Amino acid sequence: MPHLHFKGKTFVQNHHLAVPFHELIPVTEKGLSAKPSLHDNLILQGDNLKALKALLPAYSGKVKCIYIDPPYNTGNEGWAYNDNVNSPMMQSWLGQTVDREDLTRHDKWCCMMLPRLKLLRELLTEDGAIFVSIDDNEVHHLRCLMDEVFGEENFVANVIWHKMDSPKNTAIHLSEDHDHIVLYARNAEIWRPNLLPRSDEMIARYKNPDNDPRGPWLLSDLAARNEYRQGRYSIRTPSGKVIQGPPAGSYWRVSEEKFEELDKDGRIWWGDSGSNRPGIKRFLSDVKDGVVPQTIWHWKEAGSTRNAKQELSKLMELESSQDVFITPKPVKLLARILQIATDKDSIILDSFAGSGTTAHAVAALNAEDGGNRRFVLVECEDYADSVTAERILRVMRGVPTAKDAKLKAGYGGTFSYFQLGEALEKQAILDGEHLPGFEALAGYVYFTATGEQFDAGQIDRKTGFIGESRNFDVFLIYVDDLETLKDLALTRTMAEGLPSISGKPKLVYAPTKYLDDDRLRELRIEFQQLPFEIYKRMDGRRRG
Ligand SMILES: C[S@@+](CC[C@H](N)C(=O)[O-])C[C@H]1O[C@@H](n2cnc3c(N)ncnc32)[C@H](O)[C@@H]1O
Repeated sequence: MPHLHFKGKTFVQNHHLAVPFHELIPVTEKGLSAKPSLHDNLILQGDNLKALKALLPAYSGKVKCIYIDPPYNTGNEGWAYNDNVNSPMMQSWLGQTVDREDLTRHDKWCCMMLPRLKLLRELLTEDGAIFVSIDDNEVHHLRCLMDEVFGEENFVANVIWHKMDSPKNTAIHLSEDHDHIVLYARNAEIWRPNLLPRSDEMIARYKNPDNDPRGPWLLSDLAARNEYRQGRYSIRTPSGKVIQGPPAGSYWRVSEEKFEELDKDGRIWWGDSGSNRPGIKRFLSDVKDGVVPQTIWHWKEAGSTRNAKQELSKLMELESSQDVFITPKPVKLLARILQIATDKDSIILDSFAGSGTTAHAVAALNAEDGGNRRFVLVECEDYADSVTAERILRVMRGVPTAKDAKLKAGYGGTFSYFQLGEALEKQAILDGEHLPGFEALAGYVYFTATGEQFDAGQIDRKTGFIGESRNFDVFLIYVDDLETLKDLALTRTMAEGLPSISGKPKLVYAPTKYLDDDRLRELRIEFQQLPFEIYKRMDGRRRG
């Protein structure tokens, strides 16, 4: 497979592995939950590279649908490359706004995207999929990066979203009326889209001119271009006219025998006069519950950029000319993605959250179908609170000025707001400069050692048990207080008293131990010294 080369690629290829895990700090007053939890709907403020890494312990392999809407790199969005990659060239990029004059603008964009895509893939369920909004500035580079990260065999579609409800006559060349939504599955052999409900327009095309008791139907041509050896025979119409065969270059799509069977069953239409070329009646009652999603999405069904701005201004109760956020997506666009790619209990992630359209659509769909979908949103800017969280607060609690009754009453639900805390780093723990909380360290060591999802609900603070993995019962002997930590050790009595949860060997983290290796072996304990062995993997696999 051809690979895309860009400046900085060798430095970012494995950068996602070097990004340290950061703590996630709840900010109760900015959320809508009295008890913030990582398993609630989430808004996470911070850079998404660090945030995605921090989400791995709780969310690896759990996200059914990812939607991202990264900077399109148009040259006037004011984004800057800010990843702390160990390369002098890339250090010189830091903080510099990427504009059209920047000759490395595409390199920087690819360097920004590659490690994020790698982490996003880790978060997907085996039957999950990722949708990426983009335009022609970067779509070709994006496709190459996605082929590399997700595998070209997992490419599903490049959807064209017809986003403009009228052409832009000020365009110098052509009016750009569409965006791309690039769709890859984690595994295309497994991923299947949900069918979309038939639109009123589609249903209205079914008519019943002959008052057939089976209800409205749509005419399907009897002739088709696909070669079909039994599809060449003459037909006599009810009015007595003989049709010698299908038009040149085509074939009847059913055999003569099948045709007669359909005619007997009143499923052939000969026109009002009874002398037309026959067609097959396809009854609305016979077609599947929905329609297979197509690759062109028109603004009438998926919303337009104009709708998106209006809907956000109304929701935030601003004058329509005021921009609270300049590039929102319409809720209908996200609703369509959710309809295609989620079930009622799916987790949906958007790591370039902006105004929070994804969360809005999740709450609306749950309210419509009684679902229990959860969203995880990441936004780095300060407006994560004033715009993103504020919007979600409004849609959950209700918007008094809304026309839609459900939105007016509020879709209901809760969300927790988190910020990125300090990095979990050995040296900072050793110096006592920054001691992570028990749960944060537990999640980190458990995930790093086992590669398996961490469930904070399993923690037993009395015994130090933090979870059962495929190979171990895992324990953490730790408190986030330097003075107590100095005297904390795995003693012989403690080791002998550790409960046997599953009967598997025990993996025990503690600052030190007061028993010898032979006794540890007898007790089937693998001892890991804090903080020196917090990066150690116990399952021999590499991961994000
Ligand atoms: C195009 S907007 C997304 C708009 C969103 N789909 C909506 O409907 O409102 C991209 C967002 O990604 C955010 N962003 C860009 N780089 C980021 C990063 N490294 N980490 C987190 N957020 C980032 C920007 O601040 C911006 O709000």
